[in-house]
Amino acid sequence: MKRIACLLVFVSFLLSVAAQPKLSILPEPVEIKTGEGFFVLNPSSSISTSSTDAELSRLAEQLSATLSRSTGFKMPVRAGGIMTNNVGNILLQINKSNDAVLGNEGYRLNIGQAVVTISANKPAGLYYGIQSLLQLLPKEIDQKKAAANVNWQVPVADITDYPRFAWRGLMFDVSRHFFTKQEVKDFIDEMVRYKYNLLHMHLTDDEGWRIEIKSYPKLTEKGAWNVKRVGTFGNFTPPAADEPRDYGGFYTQDDIGELVKYAKERYVDILPEIDIPGHSLATIASYPELSCSPGADKYMVRSGEKIMNWYSGGFTALVDNTLCPANEKVYTFLDKVFGEIAALFPFEYIHMGGDECAKNFWEKNPEILSLMKKEKLKDMHEVQSYFVKRVSKIVSSKGKKMIGWDEILEGGLAPNAAVMSWRGMKGGIEAAKMGHEVVMSPTTFAYLDYMQSDPVVEPPVYATLRLKKSYEFEPVPEGVDAKLIKGGQGNIWSEQLYNTRHLQYMTWPRGMALAECLWSPKSARNWNKFTQKVENNFERMDIRQVKYARAMFDPVFVVKKDSRDSILIELSTEVEGLDIHYSFDNSHPDNFYPKYDQPLSIPKEAQVLKVVTYRNGIVMSRQIDMPVKEIRRRADAIKK
Ligand code: ACM
Repeated sequence: MKRIACLLVFVSFLLSVAAQPKLSILPEPVEIKTGEGFFVLNPSSSISTSSTDAELSRLAEQLSATLSRSTGFKMPVRAGGIMTNNVGNILLQINKSNDAVLGNEGYRLNIGQAVVTISANKPAGLYYGIQSLLQLLPKEIDQKKAAANVNWQVPVADITDYPRFAWRGLMFDVSRHFFTKQEVKDFIDEMVRYKYNLLHMHLTDDEGWRIEIKSYPKLTEKGAWNVKRVGTFGNFTPPAADEPRDYGGFYTQDDIGELVKYAKERYVDILPEIDIPGHSLATIASYPELSCSPGADKYMVRSGEKIMNWYSGGFTALVDNTLCPANEKVYTFLDKVFGEIAALFPFEYIHMGGDECAKNFWEKNPEILSLMKKEKLKDMHEVQSYFVKRVSKIVSSKGKKMIGWDEILEGGLAPNAAVMSWRGMKGGIEAAKMGHEVVMSPTTFAYLDYMQSDPVVEPPVYATLRLKKSYEFEPVPEGVDAKLIKGGQGNIWSEQLYNTRHLQYMTWPRGMALAECLWSPKSARNWNKFTQKVENNFERMDIRQVKYARAMFDPVFVVKKDSRDSILIELSTEVEGLDIHYSFDNSHPDNFYPKYDQPLSIPKEAQVLKVVTYRNGIVMSRQIDMPVKEIRRRADAIKK
């Protein structure tokens, strides 16, 4: 028996070694062939390009700046195929004839002992090849100043890589809390490391209008500002009339131009979202005539006070935060707004929101009731659909395609509209079956504003999404035409995001999980290998001073009841190879405390279960203090 146990331990050791990535690239490439020896950057290394093309030179200069900064080597750029035979050179090469396997974003990264060659059909592919190369260099490559005593070596390898999906996005809500232009650039810098190519900016909502619109200046004079409140958003005290409305901000059109250019130079498109007809309180506070509710001239931009009643299966609005579909002024407004938006953002799509539009004010409104009669609209869904179809015509008239949240399906989808499926995959499946394009961003896998560990330790949000669940994201459901699934994205709503450090904490590492789901072949996914790569990235993020969540090391609590109705607490970890230690005596457990090996019962009179995880004597998780009262509450909930 003992021998079998030893054998099992040995086999599991071998398996865990096999899961360690020899080359840590996240997202996992399509194919890696490893070799013998190393390529080493040295003081006479240089970067060559296969032609004098300006974009190629820009990429080479960008790479040179990155490598020079941390290595301290000069790293000159030699444009146009001038390749010295110096050992330690890097060649960026655009293929003379199309390499069909690679498409527009793929690359081949050949790391030889003398030279590194990155080749691609398009500059975007070279850019992604560069990201992979940077991940293979020692972590000090992420240092902002020259690092001493580093051997800048990369293992010899031959990598072929290309993305599974063309749409690999992150949505950043800059409305609920405003983030500066620099913070948006910093966000882009992080996302491109994981080969994301789309930044969806949620630019308007009840809490703020964030983009200068020259035809409607009050949108930013008034609509971009609210009263700063701190704490748990959603139920703040409504601001008094004389409280200063100085919290917020907006991007000028020049700022947007700068962001679009910054993103483009990193092969990121920006998708602008103007969220209508719901979520429009900031718009109405600026231009009350766009509402059809009496009293809208008293409305204020929301500061986090309660404006909706949520209940299971639905919601109603306490103030009418919708644009009025029966008001022609609304369509004139949208024509101008989308005209300016279309001119600012080169991306082919504009997002019109469309989510969570409360209909309770519409139901009582005489203008809407007469619109229904005139247009033969049966119910409020059809009213919304009438609105969406008119918006779709406006968006098309600006030469753009329209995308919206899956509520735009209700009452009938506008022709050619693409759907972003967030209430699970259902809306996406329905739209794809009707032949529409779909982007999957379901709450179940892709909502990065959700808590990532036990609610007793996380900043409170109404739902939880652990890293492992994010890593199970599969954007193509069975039974739909895969060609219509353009890809997916993670969404970071910012009701509870007050600063950029917390933004980073919420985004990473779940953003890495989604990146791998969107870039890598499904067959290349491997949870243990992924978590090892995440840990490697944590070390790099420490160097870059980017915050991340270590929630994957936290113990997972499951409260059960045994056959005699006694409470049992099961503890586990998502990451393999961790030991769980605990206490019931109020003291802080460490690795000398009892090690969890079977479900726990609560000792009589214990007040709190404290749990922490270790690996090889090193503390890995936060200590989670689980009140016994909370355990009992969870046990009571089992019955229901
Ligand atoms: C959404 O989360 N309301 C799209």
